[in-house]
This record gives sequence, C-alpha cells and structure tokens, in this order.
Amino acid sequence: MRQPVTICLINQKGGCGKSSTCFHLAGAFAQEGMRVLLVDADPQGSLSQGFLGSALVESLPASETIAALFDDETYFLDYQQLPKPTLDELIQIVPANQHLARHNFPMPETTGLKQFAVQNLLEELSGFDVVLIDCPPNLYLCSWNAMIAADYVVIPVPPEDFGTQGLRTVHQAVENVRELNPGLRRLGHLISRYDRRLLVHRSYERELRKLYQKMVLDTLIPEAAAFKVALTARMPVTHHAPRSRAAKMTQQLAKEILERIAEHVGKRRVA
Ligand SMILES: Nc1ncnc2c1ncn2[C@@H]1O[C@H](COP(=O)(O)OP(=O)(O)OP(=O)(O)O)[C@@H](O)[C@H]1O
Ligand SMILES: [Mg+2]
Repeated sequence: MRQPVTICLINQKGGCGKSSTCFHLAGAFAQEGMRVLLVDADPQGSLSQGFLGSALVESLPASETIAALFDDETYFLDYQQLPKPTLDELIQIVPANQHLARHNFPMPETTGLKQFAVQNLLEELSGFDVVLIDCPPNLYLCSWNAMIAADYVVIPVPPEDFGTQGLRTVHQAVENVRELNPGLRRLGHLISRYDRRLLVHRSYERELRKLYQKMVLDTLIPEAAAFKVALTARMPVTHHAPRSRAAKMTQQLAKEILERIAEHVGKRRVA
C-alpha cells in the first residue's frame, strides 16, 4: 500500500493563513485527482467550519472529532468513522471543535503516548494520496502531534512581521520533534496574504528570501477577496472561482509542493 504524503501547516502566529491555505490547497490537490484527507488539529475548528459549516461542527460530540484520539475514556475508537465527507468526494476531513481545547497541553514532551495520537490515526486510515494537517497558533500538543505525524512542514508567514524571533521558535520546535520523527522535513516558508502593491510586503519578501533562500517557496499566496468568498460558499477557490488569480496561485502552490517533495524523495533514493 502506498503511503500518502503528509504535510502540516504550522506557525504560532495567528491569522497568517494556515487554515485558509489548507482549505484551498485541498481543492487544488483534488483537482489533480488526488484523494485528500484534511486533519483539523486546531480547537478553533476553522478548517472544519469552512467545509461543514459552524453549526454542525460546534454540535459534534467529542467522539466524532479529533478529540476522540486524546480522550482516555475512548476505549474502542473506530478510526474509520472519523473522516467526514465534503462537497468534493475526493476531500474528507477529520473535524475539530472546542472539545479539543482541553487536550492542547503546553508541554507536549511530557504527555507520553498522547504525542502519537495523530500518527496512530494516519496509520489506521488508507486510501488517501495526501494528508494536510491544520494547526492552532501555538506549538502545544496539537501542533506537536501534527509534526510527529507529518513528513513535511510548511510555515505560512504574513509579509509584515520583520522580527524573525517567532520563526526561530518554530524552527526549534521542528528540531525538537525530529528526535521523535527523524523523517520530518521543512518544505519551506510560504509567504501568504501578500499584497504586491505594498512596499512593506515587497521588502519583507526580499528579506525573507535573503535569510532563508531555498527555504522559501517560490509561490506566493496573494491577499484576495476570492479566497474569502469561496470560503463563505464552503468551496475551495479552485472549485468556486477556477479562473481567478487566487485559484491559479493555489494550483501553482500545489504543483510546487509536489515538485519539491519529488525532488526530496529523488535525492533520498540516490543517497
Ligand atoms: N490570502 C488571503 N486572502 C484573503 N483573506 C485571507 C487570506 N488568507 C487568509 N485570509 C483570511 O484571514 C483570516 C485568517 O486566516 P486563517 O484563518 O487562514 O489564518 P490562520 O493562520 O489559520 O489563523 P489561526 O492562527 O487563528 O488558526 C480568515 O478570515 C481568512 O479567510
Ligand atoms: Mg487556523
């Protein structure tokens, strides 16, 4: 059985486009005929609400969400029941809601087997080509779990924060997780919510590329109303407005991600 490629989107900075990128990227991968599993690892449940609507997501009992993986009282968990269908038959989602909040411990290294909850889930599920894990704006147990389960990390960065201190903390977390998941690789920083008319965004881009070089994805995600409008319609922009620039950039991002992964896998084979 072929393993899916698993990518998590992390940054402790809020509002930088983690959920939005997962949401629309799922559409781009599905358009390529790939079977996508989304794992919402954020107690805010934004990604789940995007696909399933907030009323439904908020009403889900813990047993039907990712929280079930962490609940001590869940003895006989049927992992196959957790992914929920979306409007696109190629995209399924393991949802999250407020029930996950109590499990998001700030000191993940001390939580024993709970560190591997998402990894266990992915080992039980089959039939997917790509898994995208959306993380909350912190590096607690939920993000930690995502990194342990993932092959690659993408770090969305809004082009306005010149302090790299926050990014260093993210990189340190990736390094720490490598002790438990040595295969984890950084695919790169993703400049998100980019407005090319703004000088501040253009200079941030230049600085980030100078600092991190190949560790910055070539593709940028622009700030665009089309992303928000598509979200309101509960459809990735690739489906809702396939001819928009937002859709084209999302497709380009999906392509670049697959190319970078292929390049990395190729290098590993040669080595
Ligand atoms: N490229 C974009 N263009 C326009 N709006 C965007 C874009 N990316 C994100 N947004 C909007 O900005 C808000 C925050 O984005 P999003 O929820 O993806 O960030 P996040 O990093 O997941 O936040 P959190 O850390 O709280 O989980 C959302 O309302 C989203 O629709
Ligand atoms: Mg989010």
